[in-house]
Amino acid sequence: MLSYRHGFHAGNHADVLKHLVLLGLLEKLRGKDKPFTCIDSHAGAGLYDLFNAHAQTNREHESGIVPLCSSQPVDPLLRHYVERVRACNPDSRLRFYPGSPLLIQGELRAQDRLHVLELHPAEQISLQESLGQDRRVSLHLRDAFEGLLALTPPEPRRGMALIDPSYEDKKDYQRVHATLVKLQRRWPVGILALWYPLLARERDHSHWLCAALARENLPDVLQLELSVGPQAEEFGMHGSGMLVINTPWQLREQMQASLGELVKHLGGESSCSIQSLSSAN
Ligand SMILES: C[S@@+](CC[C@H](N)C(=O)[O-])C[C@H]1O[C@@H](n2cnc3c(N)ncnc32)[C@H](O)[C@@H]1O
Repeated sequence: MLSYRHGFHAGNHADVLKHLVLLGLLEKLRGKDKPFTCIDSHAGAGLYDLFNAHAQTNREHESGIVPLCSSQPVDPLLRHYVERVRACNPDSRLRFYPGSPLLIQGELRAQDRLHVLELHPAEQISLQESLGQDRRVSLHLRDAFEGLLALTPPEPRRGMALIDPSYEDKKDYQRVHATLVKLQRRWPVGILALWYPLLARERDHSHWLCAALARENLPDVLQLELSVGPQAEEFGMHGSGMLVINTPWQLREQMQASLGELVKHLGGESSCSIQSLSSAN
């Protein structure tokens, strides 16, 4: 039984990191006319109302998209991200926040394809509504880990998968590890982007996951982390990370510029790090 609802967290600092990296990767794929496939394995609801009760519970967007959208970014990727969020808010108040499936859909060209997977029945209904009728998009109401392997290698082969589990079940860490290794073998040209949380020490499994993946010698793995300060409490999340496998050329330089500017807009004790993942880390 799934209890996690992304509406409580939409637009927080973790979404900002994840969605910025996602748009950076899509920009690389759009750099050539050749078609691409994108798989969004844990899609969520699609569009979030930041004024509703879920989002207002902890107002997590105030540590993420709110300060960023209140600024005037210079970096082109940051600017593009902010423009995509503003486009969902025609009356200029920041009320609606687009999740990963909507961000991806907005970057597709006529020749590209998107597969969206989601298990939660309520999120599936919202997703159907927010994605609308789009012949480029296929919605799969199935388990992400099983579906990722069943759908790969996709046609067209060029492309990426965003893997964004809720980790409400601790077994998700093992499932992520096993699935990524198999996925990379089945789809060697695919770019795989995994999100993970940075939590209080006894609840944090990110070190185990990154070390286990580093031992697999996957190709060109880039690790990007954003922290918004020290862990203040046992629960809650002080930051998050992304691992990108088959990192496209110059993504690292791009993200250095974008994340470097992002931490200035987020302010406080925000910091970021970018490094290659190797078994020595
Ligand atoms: C972190 S949220 C996704 C947020 C979304 N990717 C975004 O960036 O806007 C994770 C989603 O995965 C769904 N989920 C959890 N376990 C799943 C599974 N095994 N298969 C498919 N979906 C799952 C949850 O219902 C939740 O909506």
